[in-house]
Amino acid sequence: MITRDVDLRPLNTFSLPARAAFFVTVDDPARVPAVLADPALAGLPRLILGGGSNIVFDGDFSGVVLKIACAGRRLLCDDEEAWIVEAGAGENWHDFVRWTLEQGWAGLENLALIPGTVGAAPVQNIGAYGLEMAERFESLDALDLSSGEMHVLRVEDCAFGYRDSRFKREPGRWLIARVRFRLPRRWQARIQYAELARELDERTKCAERGCRALTPQTVADAVATIRRRKLPDPAEIGNAGSFFKNPVVDAASYVRLAAVYPQLPHYPQADGSEKLAAGWLIEQAGWKGRRMGPVACFERQALVLVNLGGARGADVRRIAHAVGNDVEERFGVRLEVEPVFV
Ligand code: EPU
Repeated sequence: MITRDVDLRPLNTFSLPARAAFFVTVDDPARVPAVLADPALAGLPRLILGGGSNIVFDGDFSGVVLKIACAGRRLLCDDEEAWIVEAGAGENWHDFVRWTLEQGWAGLENLALIPGTVGAAPVQNIGAYGLEMAERFESLDALDLSSGEMHVLRVEDCAFGYRDSRFKREPGRWLIARVRFRLPRRWQARIQYAELARELDERTKCAERGCRALTPQTVADAVATIRRRKLPDPAEIGNAGSFFKNPVVDAASYVRLAAVYPQLPHYPQADGSEKLAAGWLIEQAGWKGRRMGPVACFERQALVLVNLGGARGADVRRIAHAVGNDVEERFGVRLEVEPVFV
């Protein structure tokens, strides 16, 4: 089950070169403690790898990579309120979303086409177009690698935040095996996100004549269209999605910034703070479409760094640092990196 010196380039969407000293494919998490008891792996660092779509390899990994391949998806229960659906952590996220929609179980349509696996979705609490995964989360089964025991974790155990969770904060501890989602029967389209509303408006214009009604599938299709328009396909050009988080600033800082930059896109938060659009800040700082060595800020969405060919982790670090410095110098706002550096 354990292989040595494995090439990780095909296993990360940024297409960065790296090798794993040891590599294990995990179909059955219950067997992992026995595998990790192998003396060859004693004391080595561990990396839990899903679809590799939110990771920057900054060189070779001298420990053991646990590549999650747990499969399966099923309807667990179906009551008057909701469908509870479960999927193995190794399932492809978008295939899972598509499957739920085909079954007539709506609720994940805003999260269509996000790269990665089901097991990675709770780690960074994936979100897009006005919906975060945490809002549809029921519970998950995870192996605690520090004790070798399986646990059921519910929403209150997971410390979900904006692109954040307990799993991101305790790297290497939790091996997520299966995730369950609660999909309410009473469907309400989540279409507050301005760009999504615009796209749907185009598609449903003739809805009165019965050609394109607002359905979960129409929303999924609109989301997919926007994503394809703005975001690079990792199969064609290496990237890890948004490279920075949208920074959250207090109300007073926002008022100061908005006085100088009235067009600055902002999203008011429940606690009175304001989330700013990092892509806008980066574009204004002159980085959109600009390259540094083999890495560039994508020309259609400045928040995404792309591998123009042959990039290494150090090249990604260099441009990320330069972008962050320029944004901070110009706006006094510090950007936080979104993917995990390993
Ligand atoms: N903007 C610019 N220039 C740019 C990019 C964006 O001015 O180069 C402006 C846009 O005009 C818009 C605002 O910034 O007014 C927001 O842009 P967009 O709607 O593209 O979304 P985002 O805030 O840049 C976030 C998520 C994406 C998610 C979209 C849609 C983060 C870090 N990113 O991007 O998530 O798809 O919203 O909900 O929160 C990801 O996490 O990998 C990801 C792609």
